[in-house]
Amino acid sequence: MPGKVILGAQWGDEGKGKFIDIFAAKADLVVRSQGGNNAGHTVVVNGETYKLQLIPSGILYPDCVNVIGPGVVVDPRNVLREIDGLAEKGVSCDKLYIDARCHCILPWHLELDALSEKARGGDDIGTTKKGIGPTYMDKAERIGVRMHDFVGERFEEALREACERKNKVITGVYGGEPIDIEAVLAEYKDYAGRLRPHVRDTSVLTYAAVKAGQDVLFEGAQGTLLDLDMGTYPYVTSSHPVAGGCCIGSGVGPTAIGSVMGICKSYTTRVGKGPFPTELFDETGDYIRKAGGEFGTVTGRPRRTGWFDAVIARYAVRVNGLTELVINKIDPLRGLDKLKVCVAYRYKGETITEFPANFADLAHCEPVYEEFEGFTEDITGCRSWDDLPSAVQSYIKELERIIDCPITMLGVGPARDQVMTLK
Ligand code: GDP
Ligand code: IMO
Ligand code: MG
Repeated sequence: MPGKVILGAQWGDEGKGKFIDIFAAKADLVVRSQGGNNAGHTVVVNGETYKLQLIPSGILYPDCVNVIGPGVVVDPRNVLREIDGLAEKGVSCDKLYIDARCHCILPWHLELDALSEKARGGDDIGTTKKGIGPTYMDKAERIGVRMHDFVGERFEEALREACERKNKVITGVYGGEPIDIEAVLAEYKDYAGRLRPHVRDTSVLTYAAVKAGQDVLFEGAQGTLLDLDMGTYPYVTSSHPVAGGCCIGSGVGPTAIGSVMGICKSYTTRVGKGPFPTELFDETGDYIRKAGGEFGTVTGRPRRTGWFDAVIARYAVRVNGLTELVINKIDPLRGLDKLKVCVAYRYKGETITEFPANFADLAHCEPVYEEFEGFTEDITGCRSWDDLPSAVQSYIKELERIIDCPITMLGVGPARDQVMTLK
């Protein structure tokens, strides 16, 4: 059976972790294929909250194989911290495998992320400062340290070479303090030893699972609009969160994928900088932020909030080939008088319905809204369509009409069971 992709259809934090966890209940293998610990995926089970950054959201099921694919960048210190944190909660990572091709995030990448953001002055990207961009830069420049070197015989040679090269940039370009390689070697040697049993060619595992007809889930990180090519460049991440990225980043071909589920919230959020046409700067924006708990899972930063943007949703359908859409986090809209949905943009006196390729144009797009009735009922206990207030039913039906993609599931609360399946 070809696999299922679950990805973010907006700017990240749509609730991917919750849906991966739900589908992982019957999955044999869950694979992450891009990004790194810039992701923060929340899974709430029996009142316990798990905030997963690099480890796939299938980890809570002991029989599920969890794979960090070749397109992911791995911070050895951070992933071990995550493994230890899970162990404290009784969750085993014995079935966690990291691809030998993954590039390592090392101390100089963290330093360079911070220095380059600072050097941009007010024009910074607003990165998570986890070293993601600098690590993908080294990969593209073909000077990165891959996991097979990190856990292999070239450990010391590879780290010394990389550190020497990067210290020239840190001191020469940014006037920063050089990194002490001896301290790094001493600290990271232990990490290499601990990670070694987890490292292998994971594309073999993923392919075997697909070929055997097992249930395979591709776990997206970030979101469509943070994609390096298809997102709001340059205010994007450095990998490919769109569906196509799953193949490159997990090392299997497109025939391994059978369906693509996009996750949206019933409103829009973004962390970091960049244009956001439906952003709200008023009390409604504050209301949504508070009701939805919109504070970054990784950085704690308040998320920017705004109305649902259907131009973005239609774009996500197109560039990911979405076969279905989930509308998550509907409950935080409770108590708002009217619900607005952006159906088009006004740009230079014209109405446009396609998402612009140039972020500078997007910054000048005015949203064109349709308005719908709000609801006052507590919907967090609803588990089927018929339980929902009629205003919520109409809102969802209207979204499906406007976006033109089947809405198959809804989310009404953070817990695993606070969802409903429509189709
Ligand atoms: P991800 O990065 O896409 O996995 O999403 P995050 O975990 O960063 O952010 C989603 C946040 O919303 C987390 O705090 C979740 O626990 C929470 N959440 C998920 N689904 C729902 C929902 O339907 N309603 C509410 N109120 N919260 C939700
Ligand atoms: P999940 O998987 C939301 C954003 C950062 C910044 C930009 C670049 O939890 O949805 P980076 O550190 O990647 O170089 O930062 O991308 N960003 C995210 N925003 N959710 C995420 O992941 C994100 N990962 C990166 O805020 O704007
Ligand atoms: Mg998140």
